[in-house]
Amino acid sequence: MIRVGIIGCGYWGPNLVRTLSEIDDVRVVRVSDLRPGRREFVSRRYPLIQTTADANDVLSDTSIDAVAIATPPDTHYSLALNALDQGKHILVEKPLATTTKDAERIIELAARKQRTLLVGHLFLYSPAVVEINSLLRRGDLGSVYCISSVRCNLGPPNTQIDALWDLAPHDISMILHFMDDSPVDVRAYGASFTNSRFAETVFVILRFTDGRIAHIHVSWLTPAKTRLMQMICSKRVVLYDDMQPLQKVQVYEPGVDNRVSASEKESGTLGFAPGGIWLPALKSYEPLRAECEDFISSIQSGRPPFSDGVRALEVVRVLEAASHRLREGGQSVYAGGEFDARQAELTK
Ligand SMILES: NC(=O)c1ccc[n+]([C@@H]2O[C@H](COP(=O)([O-])OP(=O)(O)OC[C@H]3O[C@@H](n4cnc5c(N)ncnc54)[C@H](O)[C@@H]3O)[C@@H](O)[C@H]2O)c1
Repeated sequence: MIRVGIIGCGYWGPNLVRTLSEIDDVRVVRVSDLRPGRREFVSRRYPLIQTTADANDVLSDTSIDAVAIATPPDTHYSLALNALDQGKHILVEKPLATTTKDAERIIELAARKQRTLLVGHLFLYSPAVVEINSLLRRGDLGSVYCISSVRCNLGPPNTQIDALWDLAPHDISMILHFMDDSPVDVRAYGASFTNSRFAETVFVILRFTDGRIAHIHVSWLTPAKTRLMQMICSKRVVLYDDMQPLQKVQVYEPGVDNRVSASEKESGTLGFAPGGIWLPALKSYEPLRAECEDFISSIQSGRPPFSDGVRALEVVRVLEAASHRLREGGQSVYAGGEFDARQAELTK
């Protein structure tokens, strides 16, 4: 039996309480939240779970093996370090930390203490992403040329972070996964229109080796919730619309563009002939259940989880670089440590 404590039970934390409670061999024993209303919410639904305002009651409870942290991102670092110091395995919500330095310290301590560290990059576990990735690895799509990802909705009423750090971790984690690489160049533009201190709309461009590119648009300003990714590959094109209840992934066969030949004939009609569209069958499961099961089985087996610290660190690197670009508005910013060499290689 793995005994779990959960810190932070606002919007997302209750999903962790529910999902972890449903897994055999797991018992959620304590939940901590600063707000009395959130503690009452948990007590009403789960009378057997103890609640507390003080996260230290969870961290210092020697009967607890693992802690899930679903508090705002700027609190992840200190809570994660404290939990690891107390010997707990940790599931930290995305983003792992608000700086690469902090993320590196968490990863280093987890390794030193030999504790599991899983970061909640939920979409890496989604049936759609798993299917797209297996099409890619089987060679069915060819190589990725470019990816465009849009994630828009009305913004949260209260926030201490901008739309980039709130929404883009999901897009970045998927893009790095599909590209199987880290970008050599990160650019970002953002703006705030409603007197917010934080950017509400952000455009990020990532450039990878071999000239591959990705574009991310996140925004809190649209009531039409959008989660749409297009991936142009050498053999096929993938459209991933996470708002669709069933047909989330469409694969487009190559089409024949006859615009050139049509324009050669004076009376020709401009047009193109798209190929077929194929809807791969997706497995049916809840991504959060898969994420939580990976956390528990990683603890039991000692193997790293799929969404581990290494992936999470790359996401924080890109976020930090994009954030820096938003603040400084200066030259492009690289998300990693080998910028000069790789950039020089690209610009030869
Ligand atoms: N995986 C996903 O799809 C997903 C979705 C939403 C949010 N998230 C992530 O989950 C985390 C929380 O986001 P949210 O939207 O639930 O925020 P939220 O503000 O709704 O909830 C955070 C809760 O943490 C509590 N809290 C803060 N500091 C605390 C402390 N020291 N001890 C105990 N409780 C504390 C607050 O009282 C609040 O109730 C963020 O990292 C966010 O990025 C992930």
